[in-house]
Amino acid sequence: MKTLYELCKLITQGVYVIAVTDGQRERAFTAAWVMQVSFEPPMLVFSINPQHSSYPILKTGGRCTINVLAKQQLGIAAHFGRSGLDDKMTGFQWQKTQQGTSALAESIGYFECSVHHTTVAGDHELIVCNILDAVFLNPGEPMLYRDTGNMDGTDT
Ligand SMILES: Cc1cc2nc3c(=O)[nH]c(=O)nc-3n(C[C@H](O)[C@H](O)[C@H](O)COP(=O)(O)O)c2cc1C
Repeated sequence: MKTLYELCKLITQGVYVIAVTDGQRERAFTAAWVMQVSFEPPMLVFSINPQHSSYPILKTGGRCTINVLAKQQLGIAAHFGRSGLDDKMTGFQWQKTQQGTSALAESIGYFECSVHHTTVAGDHELIVCNILDAVFLNPGEPMLYRDTGNMDGTDT
């Protein structure tokens, strides 16, 4: 699997913090498997492991923000890539979107999304979303998945 995962890091991908809410609970996780899939209407897809704490919140709430991380924000990627943290959202500045989801104030920008449909893909689920809003917040160069090294533990 080493070669597979090494080569996967050469598929050009950014790194994002996906924040979910169901109106009661909030959670966020780091994701690299994100891409645009339609111009009209504007849509994107991301892939989530159903075992993540964020998953049931996303399924109930049906909305999220996808926050684009900048090159130097490796600490943020590592934080939201950790599971089992009770107060994961604390210590960061969040701004409320029109839909009531939280956006990461220090990101380059964010997409505000609502879930259109989902489909199972192996041990993950593909979440196909309508893009409701797209907002630039700060100048910066986007982080690349390959910049994260073994942060996600795929280097065996
Ligand atoms: C660089 C990086 C990329 C990741 N990409 C994804 C991804 O695309 N999809 C996914 O489900 N998890 C991905 N993860 C793993 C989750 O971020 C991680 O399991 C997180 O702890 C889940 O958080 P939660 O359980 O609080 O929801 C990635 C982690 C890192 C560090």
